[in-house]
Amino acid sequence: MIEQFKKDVVEGLGQKPKSIPSKYFYDALGDALFIKIMNMPEYYPTRAELEIFKEKSVEIIKALSMKKDVFFELIELGAGDGTKTKYLLQSLLQEGYDFSYLPIDISATALNDLEAKLGCEFPQLDVRKKHGDYFNVLETLKTNNHPKVILFLGSNIGNLTDENSTKFIYQIGANLKPYDKLILGVDLIKSEDLVRPAYDDPHGITKEFNLNLLRRINKELGGHFDISAFDHAPEYYMHEGIARSYLVSNRAQEIRIESLDRSFSFEKGERIQTEISRKYDDKIMKKILNETDFKIVAKLTDKNRYFADYVLSRS
Ligand code: AVI
Repeated sequence: MIEQFKKDVVEGLGQKPKSIPSKYFYDALGDALFIKIMNMPEYYPTRAELEIFKEKSVEIIKALSMKKDVFFELIELGAGDGTKTKYLLQSLLQEGYDFSYLPIDISATALNDLEAKLGCEFPQLDVRKKHGDYFNVLETLKTNNHPKVILFLGSNIGNLTDENSTKFIYQIGANLKPYDKLILGVDLIKSEDLVRPAYDDPHGITKEFNLNLLRRINKELGGHFDISAFDHAPEYYMHEGIARSYLVSNRAQEIRIESLDRSFSFEKGERIQTEISRKYDDKIMKKILNETDFKIVAKLTDKNRYFADYVLSRS
């Protein structure tokens, strides 16, 4: 992990324009800041998707067309605290489906908490938590023939380029069989006045989340970033449909990173791109799915049409 981090930082800061992959946001502090982001009034995606699961779980289940008497596995990639999924689990149990829930997460703590919570709320539910990286775990699930429904929520797919999203969804399909399903939660394209505050909040939480990348380089790679010498600079244009986050150097400076035995120079105003958050519509979604084995069977949205959960079926 640390070797990959070094490699990505050398490559990302050595090129022009500079960039660092957003996956490095998520150390313990980054996880805590992201939870704070999800609870901010400006960050609408979490509430919008929660509304879909609260109000439309029965419709989602109908779109899945699973048979009540055939056992299936419900597998969630990056389950976190399972707040949204809880509503789907409740409806499935009420309707008498025969299934197990397999939450996958990179955080063992999050999985243990989720297991304990579900044990109290749904004692009859079979929960089989899987700790680790999505793909390694998905590979191990291939060994049985049970039908599968995969959940990938929260517009996490939006942090990938469209090209990488296609590859990722194709990979998920490669671990599944015909008629298995994927529920993909995505943030929809909307106007600047709604999206910008979600990535540039007045509380400064997203700024701290972004700057945490530099703190992490200082801590883990022996970097000498002066955090106050960088500003948080997000961007979003509706016609493009992609929110981008940058860190901008507010002066000309040279930063040494000990474990890389290298220095990187920054001009005043030079940016590091730290994240993309893609927003979607049907046209973009179909283009991404075109080279995968999945077809759209349903699309559920919240009442404001801010967010959508697409139900996809593998051919
Ligand atoms: C995890 N991911 C879907 C979030 C997003 O909206 O792109 C991460 C985030 N970055 C800034 N705010 C939230």
